[in-house]
Amino acid sequence: MSDNSINNNQVKSKKRVSDHGEVFTAPREVNAMLDLVKQETERIDSRFFEPACGNGNFLTEVLKRKLITVESRYAQSQLEFECYAVIAVSSIYGVDILQDNVEECRERLFVIFNNKYTSLYKSQNKDECRRSVKYILNRNILWGDALNLKTPNEKAEPIIFSEWSAINGSMIKRRDFTLSNLLEGDLHTYNAAKYKSFEIPLFSDEGDPAFLPTPIVNFPLIHFLRIGENDTDKL
Ligand SMILES: C[S@@+](CC[C@H](N)C(=O)[O-])C[C@H]1O[C@@H](n2cnc3c(N)ncnc32)[C@H](O)[C@@H]1O
Repeated sequence: MSDNSINNNQVKSKKRVSDHGEVFTAPREVNAMLDLVKQETERIDSRFFEPACGNGNFLTEVLKRKLITVESRYAQSQLEFECYAVIAVSSIYGVDILQDNVEECRERLFVIFNNKYTSLYKSQNKDECRRSVKYILNRNILWGDALNLKTPNEKAEPIIFSEWSAINGSMIKRRDFTLSNLLEGDLHTYNAAKYKSFEIPLFSDEGDPAFLPTPIVNFPLIHFLRIGENDTDKL
């Protein structure tokens, strides 16, 4: 599969610019901004949320950086690489109001993972690992309106994100939250972030004095290679 992770085309159409303010950020600016939080972009499990992610110019670069860390530490062991690569993917979140952007963003992220994975392990690579990554991307990159935190269709349902936490190495705990609940504790950060930055603390892992969001669903622990195995969730 070709690496379509670099997107130099900043405008798709004048109409999209005037309707949705869609002008994608160029790679040079993306990298300069990410370098302001370089350490976080290279940390495997640091969580990034981009509320108007477009087709993923920031999120794809974050994933590339995280995967460089995963490869440098764990490439010797395929199972460890797989586990930490899944954790890296699971820490990246985005919302966009345009469905085609959401699909492109998921696909670009998947291709970055898959190219790295297949180049390292060639015929030894596993479809289960690819399934887990695809499933997580479908849950983490969502079609939604970042202003009212709902789906942009007539149902106007709350945007629901999944928190993925690694437990005892290869097991994963999933908990689902509404985005509005997650942001209750961070509204100030969120409002500032919408205008100034691409990163807001979604599931805080920095020991902030605690606002504890309430999960709407708690899932049983699951092995990271079995994520999405029995789920027929249509997203
Ligand atoms: C200036 S572009 C930036 C895209 C991407 N963040 C980047 O830097 O390449 C703005 C994006 O916001 C999306 N957008 C506009 N209004 C939105 C809303 N209410 N909720 C979510 N996304 C929105 C557009 O579809 C577009 O992809």
